[in-house]
Amino acid sequence: MKILITESIADESVQYLKDRGYEVEEYLGHSQEEIEQYIKGFDAIIVRSATKINNALLDNADCLKAVGRAGTGIDNIDVKACTEHGVIALNTPTANNMAAGELAVAHAFSIFRNICVANEGVHNGDFRRGNWVGVELEGKTVGIIGLGRIGSIVARKLKGVGMNAVAYDPYIPQEKFDKVGVTRCQTLDELLVQADLITLHTPKTKETINIIAKEQLYKCKRGVRIVNAARGGLVNEQDLADALAEGQVAAAAIDVFDKEPSYNKKPGEQDYDNVLLHAPNCYITPHLGASTVEATAKVGQGVVELIDGALKGEIVAAINMPQFSGSIAEIKPYCSLAEKIGLMYFQAENMPITKVEVKYRGELSESTGTGIITLSLVMGLLKGMGNDHVSYVNAQECLEESGIEVVETKTESIQKYNNLISVTFFTEDGRQLKIDGTVFAPDTEVIVTFFGYEMNCPLSSTVLALKNNDVPGVIGRIATILGKHDINIVSMHWGRKNQDGSDNTHAQAFVAVEQSVSQDIIDELNAAEGVLRVSLLELA
Ligand code: NAD
Ligand code: MLT
Repeated sequence: MKILITESIADESVQYLKDRGYEVEEYLGHSQEEIEQYIKGFDAIIVRSATKINNALLDNADCLKAVGRAGTGIDNIDVKACTEHGVIALNTPTANNMAAGELAVAHAFSIFRNICVANEGVHNGDFRRGNWVGVELEGKTVGIIGLGRIGSIVARKLKGVGMNAVAYDPYIPQEKFDKVGVTRCQTLDELLVQADLITLHTPKTKETINIIAKEQLYKCKRGVRIVNAARGGLVNEQDLADALAEGQVAAAAIDVFDKEPSYNKKPGEQDYDNVLLHAPNCYITPHLGASTVEATAKVGQGVVELIDGALKGEIVAAINMPQFSGSIAEIKPYCSLAEKIGLMYFQAENMPITKVEVKYRGELSESTGTGIITLSLVMGLLKGMGNDHVSYVNAQECLEESGIEVVETKTESIQKYNNLISVTFFTEDGRQLKIDGTVFAPDTEVIVTFFGYEMNCPLSSTVLALKNNDVPGVIGRIATILGKHDINIVSMHWGRKNQDGSDNTHAQAFVAVEQSVSQDIIDELNAAEGVLRVSLLELA
C-alpha cells in the first residue's frame, strides 16, 4: 500500500512504515494544488498543519483510506468531508502537549522580563539595562482561555512560579478546574478584567475566531500581556497590533498566525508579511510549539502507528469514529470477534435479513465501548454482502443504506462464560439464526453457538462449517476428501444438539483448515454421504 507524506515527520517514523512493507513517498514543499492532484493512488496521507484535507483533495483521491495529522490541531482537516468519503481521520492529540505548554510558559517569561528584546539590544551594542526593566510573574494573575490538555499544563507550571491562575472554558466540568487548581471564570469578561497575562489554548472554531479582539483587549487591565501559542486568528491580528502600538497591551508573544507563512522558504525567498511583524513589543516564533526533539519523535511515531493500524483495518482512535471512555486495547478482541460473526452470516446463509439483534452479556454489558463493537459487527456483515469500502467511519451510513436494522441490548446475566456476544439474525423468511461468541484470555475468540448448535470452537482464518446427519462415518469421509486434496486440518469441533434440544439427528461441525478450499472441493464435500450443507467461512 502507498502512503504520501506532505510535511516532514521524524526519519525513524518514515522508516517504521517502510519496515512494514508500505511504499512511502515524501512529497515535501509542494503547493496545495499540486498535492490535490498528486493524491491519486495513495492509500493514506500524513500531514502536519499546512496541507488542507478538503473536498477537492478527497474527490481526487481514488483509494484513500486514512488521513494522519501529525499533531493536535485539526483545523486543516475537513473531518465531515473525510467521513462522507469513508476516510478515517487520525491525529496525535497528546504527543506535543508538553512542548506546546512549555513554549507558552517560555513566552510568558520572555515578555515579563524582556529577554528577547534585551538579547537583540546587546547584540546591537546596547547594554543599557535600565531600558529593559521587567515585571515578576510571582503574585500576578494568569487568565487561561481553554483549560484542555495544554491549558492545564500551562496552569500547573505558572502556578508553580507563584501566579494566581484563573480560566475560562465553558465546556468542561467544575471537577477539572478543581483538579488543576484553577479558579473558574463564568464569563470571558470575568477573566479579562483580572488577568495580567492572557494565554490562549482553545481550538480554532467559529466561536473562538477573534475571541480576543479590540472590545476584549480594552476590557483588560492596561498593560496586559498576551500569549497565543494555540492557533492564529484567535486573537485579531490588526486589533492586537493597534493595542500594542497604543500601549493598552504591554507585550505579546505569538507562535501562530491567522494565515501562516511557508516554514520551508529560505530568508531571501520569503515573501510573507503580517501586521504583527511590524507591531511594537510583539515577539514571534515560527509555529515552534511542537518543535522539540521529544514531541517530534512522539508525534511521528504516534501518527505512523495509527496509520498502520487503520490500513490493517484495526480499530484505532480516530477523530471520526464513535468515542468511548475506556481503552481500545480492552475492546479490541471483542471488535475482532464481532466482525467475524458479522462476516460469517452471508458466507453460511444466503437468506436476506431484516434485522440483527446483538446482546452483550456479562462483564461486556458494562463496557462503554459496545457501540464500537457493534460497528465492527456491522462492518463484517456489510463486507459479507460484498461492500469492499466499508470502514469504521462509514459503516453506520452504509448500514442505513442497506435497510437492515441493528439493535443493541445488554444484560449482566450470563452462564458459563465471563462475557458473551450473542447475535441473532432475523431472516426475511421469518427464522432467527443465532451465533454466540466469547473471548477467553488473552485473545482467543471462540464460537459457542452457531445457528443454534452448541459448540466450543476457537476461530481461525479459514473454517469449513458443515451440517451433517449425526451418524457414524461422516467425519471420516470429510477428512478423506480434504486429505486427498492436500488440505491440512488444524482442528475439528462438533456441536451435536440444538440448544433447545429440538434436533438431535443433525450435527454442526467447524473444521479449521490451513489453506483456502476451492468450490470444487466444497461441491465434493456437499455430495458426500451424510453431509447436508458445507460453507466456507473466510474470516481473515
Ligand atoms: P484540547 O482540546 O485539549 O483543549 C481545548 C480546550 O478549549 C477544551 O477544554 C475546550 O473545552 C476549550 N474550548 C473550546 N472552545 C472554547 C471557547 N469558546 N472558550 C473557551 N474554551 C473553549 O486542546 P489542546 O491539545 O490543549 O490544544 C489547544 C490548542 O493548541 C489547539 O488549538 C491546538 O491546535 C494548539 N496547539 C498548538 C501547538 C503549536 O505548535 N503552537 C501545538 C499543539 C497544539
Ligand atoms: C499542533 O496542532 O499539533 C501544532 O500546531 C503543531 C503542528 O502543527 O505541527
